[in-house]
Amino acid sequence: MSRAAFAGRTVVVTGGAGFIGSHLVDALAAAGARVRVLDDFSSGRRENLAGAGDVEVVEGDVCDDRVLDRALGGAGLVMHLATRCVRLSLSDPEDVHRVNSHGTLRVLMAARRHGVRRVVYVSSSEVYGSGVRVPMAEDHPLEPTTIYGASKLAGELYAQAATRSFGLETLVVRPFNTYGPRAHFEGVYGEVIPRFTVRLLNGRRPVIFGDGLQTRDFTYVSDTVQGILAAAAVPAAGGQALNVARGEEVTIRRLAELLAKAIDPTLAPEFTEARPADVRRHWADVGRARAQLGFTAHVGIEEGLGRYLAWFRAAYPDPAACLRDEVVRNW
Ligand SMILES: NC(=O)c1ccc[n+]([C@@H]2O[C@H](COP(=O)([O-])OP(=O)(O)OC[C@H]3O[C@@H](n4cnc5c(N)ncnc54)[C@H](O)[C@@H]3O)[C@@H](O)[C@H]2O)c1
Repeated sequence: MSRAAFAGRTVVVTGGAGFIGSHLVDALAAAGARVRVLDDFSSGRRENLAGAGDVEVVEGDVCDDRVLDRALGGAGLVMHLATRCVRLSLSDPEDVHRVNSHGTLRVLMAARRHGVRRVVYVSSSEVYGSGVRVPMAEDHPLEPTTIYGASKLAGELYAQAATRSFGLETLVVRPFNTYGPRAHFEGVYGEVIPRFTVRLLNGRRPVIFGDGLQTRDFTYVSDTVQGILAAAAVPAAGGQALNVARGEEVTIRRLAELLAKAIDPTLAPEFTEARPADVRRHWADVGRARAQLGFTAHVGIEEGLGRYLAWFRAAYPDPAACLRDEVVRNW
């Protein structure tokens, strides 16, 4: 990423206190941007922003116009990541819709009001549903299995329609499953890699939902962030969607094996009922991002898990404390 693309610019990151958002904030701050974070701290944390230096924080809801007016005034670029997560899809679908769909429309309209030059909408591979053709290119059918996926897709369509209706410059990025430092392990927000890690470090077997042959394209967070930044800096955007992923298909069983090998090979996974609406196959075709952004994800799964484990052991020297909030079945 060229530093010049962001130096001196005012960039708003919604959801900037979250997992991916906070790494994006770090990278933008390092590139010399004036970064403003809009976050309601529902799953984000202030500690995540500690390393970024002088970052302005606007605390509030992306559905609230007063909050948006405070956050977007004078901004040239908005990166919209604020989201209610996929695991809330079954327990609180209306809130997922409220924040992910309605909230995205509010952000787009606020961007228009404030003359923002570009909005980068961080969508999700969940908009595809299960892969029917793999690897999955951007023209793969859009058949989300979860309310989360549907709500992210609505956000994409609003972004593209805002380009056509109002000339607002938008770009849609579709990251695949991302992991790395600061990924959530706690409660309903817990992601698979951190949850397996916490269980294994506590001498417990990882719990797999279903047969474990479901796949994901796990992407290390520094790669995801570089992909988002490359998209934000590309000259012609035109509302199009771009996959950002490693381009490597990994089963959940293999993931459990790799982590057990690194922590305690005697801890074989245990299996429980499949999660409703769980996507069966996710494997990204990354050709468009390579061709249009010159973006390639560099960190493979084994290297990424090694890096993540090293970080986790240093950040949480007492892994037992991480079990406090554990819920095995969170829907
Ligand atoms: N983590 C992944 O594997 C993954 C994969 C594909 C796409 N994404 C997308 O990346 C983005 C970031 O995801 P993440 O994993 O960092 O999640 P996260 O939960 O860590 O971050 C979301 C952030 O949004 C904030 N937020 C939630 N509701 C809000 C509201 N109403 N107003 C203001 N802020 C609000 C949260 O406090 C949090 O800081 C999301 O758009 C998500 O859809 C994530």
